[in-house]
Amino acid sequence: MAHSTIFTYLGILFSLGIVAATIDFILPYLRPSRLHRYLHRGDSAQTSWALVTGASDGIGKALCYELAATGFNVVLHGRNPSKLEAVQNSLSSTFPSRAFRTIVADATICTEDAIQAIANRVSDLQLTVVINNAGGTPVSAPNGDIYKRLDEYSHKEVADTVNMNVVFPTMLSNALLPLMIRNGGRGVIIMIGSVAARGFPLIAPYGAGKAYLRVLSEALGQEMHMAGYDVEVICMPLGGVTGVQAIWQKPSLFTPHATTAAKKILARVGCGRSEIMPHWPHALQRLLTDLIPRGLRGGIFREAMAEIQRNGLNPQDGKRD
Ligand SMILES: NC(=O)c1ccc[n+]([C@@H]2O[C@H](COP(=O)([O-])OP(=O)(O)OC[C@H]3O[C@@H](n4cnc5c(N)ncnc54)[C@H](OP(=O)(O)O)[C@@H]3O)[C@@H](O)[C@H]2O)c1
Repeated sequence: MAHSTIFTYLGILFSLGIVAATIDFILPYLRPSRLHRYLHRGDSAQTSWALVTGASDGIGKALCYELAATGFNVVLHGRNPSKLEAVQNSLSSTFPSRAFRTIVADATICTEDAIQAIANRVSDLQLTVVINNAGGTPVSAPNGDIYKRLDEYSHKEVADTVNMNVVFPTMLSNALLPLMIRNGGRGVIIMIGSVAARGFPLIAPYGAGKAYLRVLSEALGQEMHMAGYDVEVICMPLGGVTGVQAIWQKPSLFTPHATTAAKKILARVGCGRSEIMPHWPHALQRLLTDLIPRGLRGGIFREAMAEIQRNGLNPQDGKRD
């Protein structure tokens, strides 16, 4: 075969590969949300319920508004009773025909009793949506510096970070699944992940915890399928999102507001993947950085995190609305 023919075939194969990869990237973002599958309407006692952890602020709070607007009753979980009550009151006046319930529980405490107490509070509800949103880096940060090497963490800081990001969502799913699958019920569990799962330095236990959620979602989804249960499990990693406690810069294409992020999260339900970045510009960012050679990429991540450690994530003169 002539060299030119070989190159022609290689060119066709390469082009087909690019077309297939592009379709694979775009398709899940074009599918309409299937969240409505998990909404059964009736009087407020019969209407489906959604539970959102970390609902007193940021993305979790925005998710509660979006879920209530869609028709769900919502259980709000958080650690601060007065913040939770304020969010519940605001939701009740915005959506008078929805019902709301609050659960106060610290996500760094994952004893059997603590987790069972949460399950008991929702055992009478038709729970079809669970969003494991509570997460972050619960380190003591007297100078606002939460970015540090693992050897600079205290024992408690490591334990709290792993408990909140790994143990709590795992134990909660373990305790809530029997409620979701009773009577052949259907539902969706969403794990809010992070781009930090790629292994960014200076937030190692947090990023590693988010990587764990990806594997948990994949395996748990397969288990539900094997058992014939109609429960979807999706890990949804986010890049930067503003309008949250730690970030208050102006929203942009690559740093959407918490409300936009919440809409995108719910829009991706039923996309057919066990992991998807809900906001497509974040996925594009990930795709583009994947094209950078590994050695060079590591240097870029180190420099970016060192810059965040020096200057933080927000404009120096800005403050949260
Ligand atoms: N914003 C981003 O750029 C970004 C990027 C990637 C991933 N994420 C993920 O998105 C999720 C939400 O983060 P966010 O940015 O919306 O943060 P946020 O504004 O700080 O909200 C976090 C929520 O979790 C609650 N929470 C924190 N520690 C808790 C604890 N120990 N026990 C119970 N509740 C606790 C907070 O309660 P309080 O109101 O009492 O503080 C708040 O309701 C997290 O899983 C985070 O990892 C965010």
